[in-house]
Amino acid sequence: MSLERIEDRFDRKISELGIRIRDMDQLKVRQDVFDEITLLSLYRLVHKGYITAIGGSISTGKEANVFFGEKEDEDLAIKIYRIRTANFNAMSEYILGDRRFSSIRRTRKDIVFAWTRKEYANLQRALEVGLPVPRPIVWDRNILIMQFLGHDERPYPQLRQVGLDDPASAYREIIRFMHVLYQEANLVHADLSEYNILAGDRLYVIDMGQAVMHDHPRAHSFLVRDIANINRFFHSKCPIRDEKEIFSEVTGKELRETTMKRGE
Ligand SMILES: Nc1ncnc2c1ncn2[C@@H]1O[C@H](COP(=O)(O)OP(=O)(O)O)[C@@H](O)[C@H]1O
Ligand SMILES: [Mg+2]
Repeated sequence: MSLERIEDRFDRKISELGIRIRDMDQLKVRQDVFDEITLLSLYRLVHKGYITAIGGSISTGKEANVFFGEKEDEDLAIKIYRIRTANFNAMSEYILGDRRFSSIRRTRKDIVFAWTRKEYANLQRALEVGLPVPRPIVWDRNILIMQFLGHDERPYPQLRQVGLDDPASAYREIIRFMHVLYQEANLVHADLSEYNILAGDRLYVIDMGQAVMHDHPRAHSFLVRDIANINRFFHSKCPIRDEKEIFSEVTGKELRETTMKRGE
């Protein structure tokens, strides 16, 4: 079925359900995001009552678009991983080394669907050990719905965009985040930086699709990179600690020189 027909059908179903979709024209133009699979997944989520309104675009990233949404009075972030323009090779490396996902088929679609499920599972694990991440609500194929972190349809700013009153305490908090994530959720974030931390009523860590189990072959080099990113951001703002010392505290292990080099 052509994209246009799917969209007609989608429009009809959406109006039957009485859902409000703002900027639907803008959505349609973006065919790289709203391909058939995505429109049908979105439709399923609407039909099941997970979404009652879809708002404007919040972010267009390398792999995913994020939209504001609502379920009745609850604000949602709707993250849609693009199937056509996904960075398939990079995603495969993170997925196939993870024993939770090692048996999936290696087609582009399957990798993107697994990635979406993986972000959901990673957020869930982090939440279960009490860490400040958006609460994941549901996933369907390449769409992840989660708690919206922000106000008035605007997300909280990224850490890089705010002036911190107490940078030393934010720095400690982020190291503690890595520690608890590693020790209690058995995960390494693997893309931790001032871009993936939102500063609202407190700090929140987002964007966990690439997070891996701590026994992933590259987990330790990803952790070294996360620590280096955080130190780079904070070094002009407060006293920072030695990277090896942070690594040992987070993992309970000594950092081997080989991991250091591969992490660069
Ligand atoms: N749960 C959320 N609540 C509010 N805003 C969000 C949420 N998740 C993502 N965003 C917004 O979308 C941006 C990109 O999200 P992110 O998960 O980092 O995707 P990407 O993979 O494109 O970097 C964030 O910087 C933030 O502005
Ligand atoms: Mg991000």
